[in-house]
Amino acid sequence: TPEPLVLGIESSCDETGIGIVRGRTLLSNTIASSMEQHARYGGVVPEVAARAHLEALQPAIAAALAEAQVALTDLDAIAVTSGPGLAGALMVGVGAAKALAVALDKPLYAVNHLVGHIAADVLDAEPLEHPTVALLVSGGHTSLLLVRELTADVELLGETMDDAAGEAFDKVARILGLPYPGGPEIDRAATGGDPTAIRFPRGLSRASDMAAHRYDFSFSGLKTAVARWVEQREAAGEPVPIADVAAGFREAVVDVLVTKALDACARHDVPRLLLGGGVIANRRLREVALERAAAAGVTVRIPPLRLCTDNGAMIAGLAGQLIAAGRRPSTLAFGADSTLPV
Ligand code: KG4
Ligand code: ZN
Repeated sequence: TPEPLVLGIESSCDETGIGIVRGRTLLSNTIASSMEQHARYGGVVPEVAARAHLEALQPAIAAALAEAQVALTDLDAIAVTSGPGLAGALMVGVGAAKALAVALDKPLYAVNHLVGHIAADVLDAEPLEHPTVALLVSGGHTSLLLVRELTADVELLGETMDDAAGEAFDKVARILGLPYPGGPEIDRAATGGDPTAIRFPRGLSRASDMAAHRYDFSFSGLKTAVARWVEQREAAGEPVPIADVAAGFREAVVDVLVTKALDACARHDVPRLLLGGGVIANRRLREVALERAAAAGVTVRIPPLRLCTDNGAMIAGLAGQLIAAGRRPSTLAFGADSTLPV
């Protein structure tokens, strides 16, 4: 029998993602983003995102089907992100997924967005090797997970206590007068800057912090430190060396992320690290992660960038893995859970 054809719907934040996979084979990955509508607010506005999903979903589904050259009636299953994420945004995807599943009389898989990010890595690639540590960093999350078995046993080792890593990039970009989204802007601004010129704080990253807080992250202190540094410069009437500030800030974020991820690998005796989320676009993060992982004997897997940012293919891919593992579909009695645990 051919592997199951699955359509996945992702609407937890500002990306309306529709993906179609056959088993681990990626057939289409359509993404409509409402990012531009949020730009002037400097961050995602939940109500705006939800309304944008409602408008984008139907065209995105049509486009994904066309790209995959399949019809709705060919589908074997529907998958949808049921959380975590913005409640109103999630509800749009969940409602659409239930409607499709009922109309087509096909099984429906409600899945966790974070586990979806991990599953992105199996598309058009080898199956995941277990166990693996996963670091997911985006505008919405900063999570470190221990994946003992993708479809059955994923443990949250730590997450951000305040800002997500991408959010920190966005806020610091704003402080430096750079546009939203700030990650790529800081990355560019940091080129040519001296990452050692200014040492910004690395939150919760002493060994004792890691033991006490498990592997939680904190970036708001770092953001405040940058704001204060810039204010003091301006108050003294001195120019702000944007390249050095950007490089110093980026180095602090990257240092914390990589230090914790590799510490988790060592502590759990796991020689594998998987990276995901939009912040993985950061060149310095990839560079430092690969360098330090190699030195620690840890192999690193990074999905292609279009599968790192929020998308529907990863959701469909996870459902494909659940089906392959013989897991039963969800009943229709589930809602959108903005704080859904892994
Ligand atoms: O996964 P993603 O596309 O979507 C959501 O979080 O919804 O991640 C977007 C986040 C934004 O905060 C953006 O500033 C950050 O990822 N980002 C980066 C880079 N490119 C995007 N952060 C650091 N360096 C980058 N090159
Ligand atoms: Zn995400």
